[in-house]
Amino acid sequence: MGKAICVSGSKGGIGKTTTSINLALSLFNKKENVILVDANFTSPNVGIYLGHPVTPKSIHEVLSNKIKIEEAMYLHRSGLKIVPGNISLSSLENVNPSRLKTQVSRLKKDYDWVIIDSAAGLGRESMSALEACDEVLVVLNPELPSVTDALKTIRITQELNKEIAGIVLTRKRKKYDMSIKEIESMLELPVISVIPEDDYVRKAQSRRDAVTNLFPKSKVSKSYNRLSSYMLAQSPNSRDTEFTWRDMIKTIFGLK
Ligand SMILES: Nc1ncnc2c1ncn2[C@@H]1O[C@H](COP(=O)(O)OP(=O)(O)OP(=O)(O)O)[C@@H](O)[C@H]1O
Ligand SMILES: [Mg+2]
Repeated sequence: MGKAICVSGSKGGIGKTTTSINLALSLFNKKENVILVDANFTSPNVGIYLGHPVTPKSIHEVLSNKIKIEEAMYLHRSGLKIVPGNISLSSLENVNPSRLKTQVSRLKKDYDWVIIDSAAGLGRESMSALEACDEVLVVLNPELPSVTDALKTIRITQELNKEIAGIVLTRKRKKYDMSIKEIESMLELPVISVIPEDDYVRKAQSRRDAVTNLFPKSKVSKSYNRLSSYMLAQSPNSRDTEFTWRDMIKTIFGLK
């Protein structure tokens, strides 16, 4: 049975989709059996970021009970399997987000990792992603509004009795950021990954690809690769033996 990881964090535009894509791809590059599902029904971006902006079938049709989830799977050119969303407004009409949980359970029979890209906010769609998963990665930026929003996601996750895999601090810059220590003491949880702000992310996005695929040697890609190693090290079936305590320290401090 696989594990479903929800990439969440209630603030918008903080890097949830970027993290979902790069974590999924990094796991895939380590020969893991992984699928990436877009659970942002109002603003699905996975397909847009990966060059499948308009697909005839998507998670929307699955959650409208029109098709089976297998029919909505697409292969990104990297080889990563994705279930994108439908960008048209009308596709939202019959979507029932509470059906996501059953679909994710089905995927867990065939895939070791189901990475779920959650919507922003704490509405029905983001709740459905939290309910469908086993563990939550809480994404935030090193600034107060993002950290306070993360706290809400953490509280709801705890109320749902879901495990928090850790905090992923994205878009870290050199100046004016909150420190890791401040963030950890506010949230009472460890920051397991620090992803730097890096132009390569947008460069890759403009080429409809993931930064870990196009620019594997960039700092940001190395950080995402360490995150996937961390996730593998936490997994009982882990086949990745490369993750060491040194990696753990580097992961936490966002070092190369
Ligand atoms: N580490 C990074 N360095 C530079 N830009 C980044 C980084 N991570 C994300 N971005 C950029 O920030 C923007 C928002 O990222 P993304 O779409 O992943 O956020 P999100 O949390 O999924 O947003 P939404 O809440 O709308 O779903 C994108 O343009 C993306 O390219
Ligand atoms: Mg997103």
